[in-house]
Amino acid sequence: MLYLRFKIQNYNMATENRGNFSSKIGVILATVGTAVGLGNVWRFPYVVGDNGGGAFLLVYVGALLLLGIPGVIAEFIIGRHSHANAVDSFKKIAPGTKWHWIGYSGVLAGFLIMGYYAVVVGWTLEYLVQACLGNLSGLTTEQYGEMFNQFAAHPFLPLIWTLIAMLVSTFVVARGVSGGIEKASNVLMPTFFIIILIMVGHSFFLPAAKEGMLYLFTPNFSELKPVAILIAIGQTFFSLSLGMGCLITYSSYFKKDVKLPKTAAQVVSIDAMVAVLSAMIIFPAVFSFGMQPEQGPSLVFKVLPNVFQQMPVGTLWGILFYALLFIAAITSLISLHEVVTAYLHENSSLNRRKSAYLVTFLVMVLAVFASLSFGELSHITLFGKTIFDLLDFFTASILLPVGGFFISIFVGWYLDKRIIAAELRIKHPKAHLIIKGYIFMLRVIVPTCIFAVFLYSILG
Ligand code: TRP
Repeated sequence: MLYLRFKIQNYNMATENRGNFSSKIGVILATVGTAVGLGNVWRFPYVVGDNGGGAFLLVYVGALLLLGIPGVIAEFIIGRHSHANAVDSFKKIAPGTKWHWIGYSGVLAGFLIMGYYAVVVGWTLEYLVQACLGNLSGLTTEQYGEMFNQFAAHPFLPLIWTLIAMLVSTFVVARGVSGGIEKASNVLMPTFFIIILIMVGHSFFLPAAKEGMLYLFTPNFSELKPVAILIAIGQTFFSLSLGMGCLITYSSYFKKDVKLPKTAAQVVSIDAMVAVLSAMIIFPAVFSFGMQPEQGPSLVFKVLPNVFQQMPVGTLWGILFYALLFIAAITSLISLHEVVTAYLHENSSLNRRKSAYLVTFLVMVLAVFASLSFGELSHITLFGKTIFDLLDFFTASILLPVGGFFISIFVGWYLDKRIIAAELRIKHPKAHLIIKGYIFMLRVIVPTCIFAVFLYSILG
């Protein structure tokens, strides 16, 4: 015990002055910043489109309540209790065990996700600039498709944008937690909400507003395939930034007065709301101009330019939309960057700024391969997947579920219940029952569901 105390003290010395989010609103905006990203604006609408609309939405809400909220709270408990990065948090709570391998897997996942996520953030920048220059007009749908394919396949143009995105992220991360991440989120996230509300408002006035909303909200269970349940769970994980210690890292900067269950509920509901609002922007627009939503990942780059150009003042809507996408994406990129940077900085002699730049350099090396896999390196495939697809598959379908599984087991089975109770601080006459129920979810429900998704994505 004495040895343990000593160890903990040592860690505290090593990690003191690591910074905090200075205000409660900063906590919410930064955490919403990591969660709300390409997953909401780019991925969610086409996943809904591919899986039959409204019925899928119900399954998704179920996954959020059953897995999302417990998962977010589990990472919060680890992070806030240990006040350490994704790896050291486990070393602190479970010294002398192998649990910190969850953290290593998380840091690796963060690095690999950045390798392709930054490329897509780069695409959003290109489209934002093209929209501002008024170049997203006058083409047919096929020509927009061709335009995207040519751009993505270009040997260095996308990489310049990737580098710019990474440098923006580096700039923010290098400035630290309250001076960088919190400040950026405090400006970017309110801007994001203003833009998304303007766009949703506009959506209601489009010719096919009703058709689009009906498609999104009418549950048509005959179209719901069993696979959709697993897809909904995968979407929940990616969208909430779960399974790789991103929320452990962020919550390690929460002060003691932050209420974890309340914060988790707020972040999860805002994240879900943004996903639905994005779909409310995209479906009416797509239906109004004679397109179909089931276009897969390229929906927002190949289909939407043609939709915007047919709207009155379409250039403006194009600019707003790609700005929205960029803000969502950059705050998530920052969070991925922070996970790897915090680990590196706190485990080496490099200061925060140098650590952030080193991470950027390494990510750029990976991004070169990810980006070129749309062009020069498109012939390099494994299991029929390009390098880009492999990075996405290996992280989203393997590392995140495995990480989420073990995090849930760790908090449910290993962590002292008193720590859980102390971190949750539930003030309710039946608090012990609520905590019991929560632990049961982490012990049984969450791991079982994740295991099902995992088997599916490996075997399917
Ligand atoms: N949640 C973000 C999105 O929806 C992406 C993201 C950021 C993420 N950090 C993460 C995904 C950590 C998984 C793990 O786009």
